[in-house]
Amino acid sequence: MPEPVLTARGISKHFGGLTAVDDVDFEVSAGEVVALLGDNGAGKSTLIKCISGVYRPETGEVSFKGADITGHAPADIRQRGIETIYQDLALAENLDVGANVFLGKELTRRLLGLLSVTDDQRMRNEAAGALDQLDIHIPSLKQKLVNLSGGQRQAVAIARALYWQAQLMIMDEPTAALAVPEQRKVLALIRSLRESGIPVILISHTLHDVMAVADRLVIMRRGQVVANIPRAEASEELVVRHIVGAA
Ligand SMILES: Nc1ncnc2c1ncn2[C@@H]1O[C@H](COP(=O)(O)OP(=O)(O)O)[C@@H](O)[C@H]1O
Ligand SMILES: [Mg+2]
Repeated sequence: MPEPVLTARGISKHFGGLTAVDDVDFEVSAGEVVALLGDNGAGKSTLIKCISGVYRPETGEVSFKGADITGHAPADIRQRGIETIYQDLALAENLDVGANVFLGKELTRRLLGLLSVTDDQRMRNEAAGALDQLDIHIPSLKQKLVNLSGGQRQAVAIARALYWQAQLMIMDEPTAALAVPEQRKVLALIRSLRESGIPVILISHTLHDVMAVADRLVIMRRGQVVANIPRAEASEELVVRHIVGAA
């Protein structure tokens, strides 16, 4: 087993009286696709938000490439190469596609050699390149996000992670809003990330997708990790039993 790239130890997070994540240990190694599974409300999204900096865990530590990142700001964690595609998409609805790929890292140019302004054309061109790599077509990159389909928005979020060369990609239900051909592209992308040594945490309800791409399955139930199984040892039936608590 290679050294883990990401290690989370003893992570807990409450919402009022509710324990959303309860003393969870979780690791990801280089080039590994780890599926995070569990019923609605099991704590999957909350756990990844404790990793990506959206929440500060109340107990436990998160380290990435040997550095302690527990409770760091989301922008710092992104800067270190952890790109997260959230279930509740964190894109700017009123900006165009290019601007969304560069959100928080805008490209600028000098106007009259003086004034620094955002270089919208260059951002759209670069965004177009990233979308091309994904083989995803959006008719006009000048369109505001609010006018795109769920699938197209998801593609923009993935293009953004790809463009910035994520060191760890976290995808929370990336295919939920997508049509079948687009879902296939996302699965192909996950495989190509793994081939380039970039680990992926994949949250998905589509067990078929998960079984097709994951190297390891981590199953959560009521805030706790109840199973951690290599793909080779997992059957769909076993996974379902763990998810519903009948294993
Ligand atoms: N912002 C929040 N405020 C209050 N409760 C929340 C919040 N986010 C999640 N929860 C609760 O925490 C539990 C875990 O939720 P979540 O992590 O979204 O689960 P999953 O992603 O596995 O469906 C659920 O009971 C959910 O209702
Ligand atoms: Mg969720």
